[in-house]
Amino acid sequence: MSRIAYVNGQYMPHRDGAVHIEDRGYQFADGVYEVFAVNKGKLVGEQGHLERLNHSLSELRIDWPLGRRALMVVVHEIVRRNHVRDGLVYIQITRGAAPRDHAFPQQAQSALVVTAKKSGPVDKQALCAGVDVITIDDIRWQRCDIKSVSLLPNVLGKQQAREAGAFEAWQVDNEGYVTEGTSTNAWIVTMEGELVTRDISSSILNGITRLAVLEAAAEAGVQINERPFTTAEAAAAREAFITSSTSHVKAVTRINRQSIGNGHVGELTAQILDLYLDYVDEHGGPQVADTWN
Ligand code: PDD
Repeated sequence: MSRIAYVNGQYMPHRDGAVHIEDRGYQFADGVYEVFAVNKGKLVGEQGHLERLNHSLSELRIDWPLGRRALMVVVHEIVRRNHVRDGLVYIQITRGAAPRDHAFPQQAQSALVVTAKKSGPVDKQALCAGVDVITIDDIRWQRCDIKSVSLLPNVLGKQQAREAGAFEAWQVDNEGYVTEGTSTNAWIVTMEGELVTRDISSSILNGITRLAVLEAAAEAGVQINERPFTTAEAAAAREAFITSSTSHVKAVTRINRQSIGNGHVGELTAQILDLYLDYVDEHGGPQVADTWN
């Protein structure tokens, strides 16, 4: 079965999807995106993603290409047409196509692309296997709260991680504090059992998975501290993990080749993965796809 994409008003085979050569996303990375997880046929964190999309669009003064309700009709339709039971949905919105000029065009229609990708169901064993993280300088701009398609530092950082045999790179600010991964939020559990992740500011993206984990962990009575932590503190942590719509809650067992805790998935990390998955089951929206073959 071929994949279907939505491109500026039309559903079409994914392989035929294309945008204009003067699209400002292509010319200037003048656009934003969102990535939704689909879990058991339900979109995860729909409202949170829409709020964050609204934040990104309004901070960049890009118009919504469609009303929110109409956009969600397209998103649901893409999930349905691609028979996604478990997987991802990508929304990309740019300021549209216009003759090349750095300043905003007088007239442009925001461009919209929605695509979906299937994956297997959440594999708890794989998430608990433990991955390596390296640390790198954070060379990004000062508005990391905006989910911009301008991802070059993230691309370079992820490539550096791959070449070092690691899964992710944690970016470190000028003061030695970890901001976040190149496509994930960063978490540690201190030797005292405190769950730590960086507080919200323009230095990080406020992950939808991050928010769900914070809520699920708080409900379970876990002691949480939203604050910056240093690389040294991470190296001395009892546990570490990363969160994102694509990685869910994934154990980190080595940082810069040094084992974290006993080198295996931490107890609290495994508990938080369970809490997160229960949270997603409970708080997921309506079933979007009902046929998955
Ligand atoms: N990345 N931080 C950064 C820099 C990210 O790019 C992401 C998401 C996150 C986690 O956000 P969320 O929990 O809402 O997925 C944090 C997506 C998945 C991506 O770029 O593919």
